[in-house]
Amino acid sequence: MDAENGPIVLFSTWFKEAQAAEINDAGAMALATYDPTAKRISNRIVFLRGVDETGVLFFTHRDSPKSADLLQHPNAALTFHWKSLRRQVRMEGFVRSATTQEVNAFFASRTRKAQLDIWASKQSQPLKSREVLVGDRAAFEADDQLECPDHWCGYRLVLDRVEFWASDRDDSHDRFVFEKRGTGWGETLLYP
Ligand SMILES: Cc1cc2nc3c(=O)[nH]c(=O)nc-3n(C[C@H](O)[C@H](O)[C@H](O)COP(=O)(O)O)c2cc1C
Repeated sequence: MDAENGPIVLFSTWFKEAQAAEINDAGAMALATYDPTAKRISNRIVFLRGVDETGVLFFTHRDSPKSADLLQHPNAALTFHWKSLRRQVRMEGFVRSATTQEVNAFFASRTRKAQLDIWASKQSQPLKSREVLVGDRAAFEADDQLECPDHWCGYRLVLDRVEFWASDRDDSHDRFVFEKRGTGWGETLLYP
C-alpha cells in the first residue's frame, strides 16, 4: 500500500486512483479554518493544486474570510472523501504563504475565463446582482495579457498529521495515522 514510504507517497497513489475513479473533482478538499476573534470554525471546499513533501498547495482570494482566518490562526485541516473508493484522507498542520512565483504560475496556467473571474472576484462580499458581476468582468476584457492581481494568493498546508481511512465492500474499515516525528513520520493503527 506504499505506507512504508510515508504519507505523501501513499496519498499520491490514492489521489491518482481517485482521479481515475471519481466522476469529477477528485482534488476537491474540505478546508477547515478558525477565526480566533469570533471563536468560530468554518469549512469550505478548495481545489488541491499541488502536493509534495513540503505540503499541500491551494489558491484563493487574499481578502476572503478563509484568508483572514489563516492569517490570524495558521493551523488548519483538510479532508478528502472519495466516495467511489470508499476512502477518506484527513490532513492537519499549519499554512505558509505560497511564493509569488507559485501564485503567478498558477494564474498563468488558468484559462482566460478563469483569469477574468479571478480579476472580477471580491470573494464572499455581497453581490447586488449577477449583472453587476458580468459588468465587473467586462471591465477587464480589454486587457488581453492579464497578470495575476494582488488580491490572488496561495497557501501551503505544512503537514504534521495525515490520517487514512478505507472501507472495503464488506464494510470493514481500516484506519491509520502518520504523525510527524522529527524529520520523519511515525505510523499508528487506529480503531476505526
Ligand atoms: C469543487 C469546488 C472547488 C472550489 N475550489 C476553490 C478554490 O480552489 N479556491 C477558492 O478560493 N474557492 C474555491 N471554491 C469556493 C469555496 O468553497 C468558497 O465558497 C469560497 O472560497 C469562499 O470561501 P470563504 O468565504 O470561506 O473564504 C470551490 C468550491 C467548490 C465547490
